[in-house]
Amino acid sequence: MKALGFTKFGEPEVFEELELPKPKASEKGVLIKVQAVGINPYDALLRAGTMQKIRPLEFPIVPGSDIVGKIVEVGSKVKNYAIGDIVIAHPAIGGYAEYVATPSYNVVKKPKEMGVEEAAGLASAGITAYYALQIANVKKGENLVIQGASGAVGAIIVQLAKEKGIRVIGIGNSKNADYLSALGVDRVMSYDRGNLAEILKDKGDVVIDASFGGKGAEEGLHYVKKGGRYISLTALPENAEEKQVKAIRMKRTKEMKDKEALGYLADLYRANKLQLKTAEVLTFDLRGVIGAHQLIEKKNVAGKIILK
Ligand SMILES: NC(=O)c1ccc[n+]([C@@H]2O[C@H](COP(=O)([O-])OP(=O)(O)OC[C@H]3O[C@@H](n4cnc5c(N)ncnc54)[C@H](OP(=O)(O)O)[C@@H]3O)[C@@H](O)[C@H]2O)c1
Repeated sequence: MKALGFTKFGEPEVFEELELPKPKASEKGVLIKVQAVGINPYDALLRAGTMQKIRPLEFPIVPGSDIVGKIVEVGSKVKNYAIGDIVIAHPAIGGYAEYVATPSYNVVKKPKEMGVEEAAGLASAGITAYYALQIANVKKGENLVIQGASGAVGAIIVQLAKEKGIRVIGIGNSKNADYLSALGVDRVMSYDRGNLAEILKDKGDVVIDASFGGKGAEEGLHYVKKGGRYISLTALPENAEEKQVKAIRMKRTKEMKDKEALGYLADLYRANKLQLKTAEVLTFDLRGVIGAHQLIEKKNVAGKIILK
């Protein structure tokens, strides 16, 4: 089968078209013919070699954890899926390929109403958003500040929080202010307008950093009230200990089940309570994957980048 991967780390141009053996469904898994794949910041870290210290992999590496496609083979112990089902799946890796074999616990049926592009962008961002909000455990009457509210993960956190009746202060670039309002953000703030460290000082009972850590995250600590919680999807800022807040770096645990999160998000979508923004759809080929990785490196694309 054809796959898009790399045999050395580097810039987006390291991608090449690979010919790899077609995988088989395991007893408890399914084989999916991929229709579209979503690109994540994590894929770019894999390509750059940044993840080798944490998750060493051998070449050739084929990234891709967000796919949508048709089941073409079902393992002997799998009950709830059949050949022909169109599903959303969250494999650990290998999604930039013609076929992906994955355990069935990573898979949910695609809601009929959901477009293929939307479905391809849902898994990683949606699962992360769902569990980030669980960790945040925002109580009634508390304020939630979301940094990177216009991003793939942030936009889903906004909508899940609004569904639960939480008051949300959402931060993004000023060019995305209307988008944040449309998502339901109660107070839209732009990180490129005004001194947010001052304006939002101690305004958040809980702050979730769904941006890219670094300087923005350090600033985010100022938004948390004394005794509040700061949750980061990346590294915690260095000044976290100076403030009297509970700073948590979100990490995936075994208790965080893909199916639970994806099932909830699919239901929310069916109920018309979840918008999924697609920023760009590129062709599922070498040119497309290089273009997609060039785009994701810019770190300012609101919505998902998809290969189809
Ligand atoms: N995608 C996943 O599945 C996943 C899973 C686990 C962890 N993460 C981590 O979560 C973070 C977000 O991922 P993502 O996929 O949502 O990325 P994304 O779609 O690129 O979103 C990141 C957002 O951060 C915003 N941002 C940039 N600088 C900011 C600042 N100074 N203050 C506030 N917001 C700022 C950008 O907003 P504007 O566009 O408005 O400039 C952008 O929309 C990344 O660090 C990623 O590694 C992601």
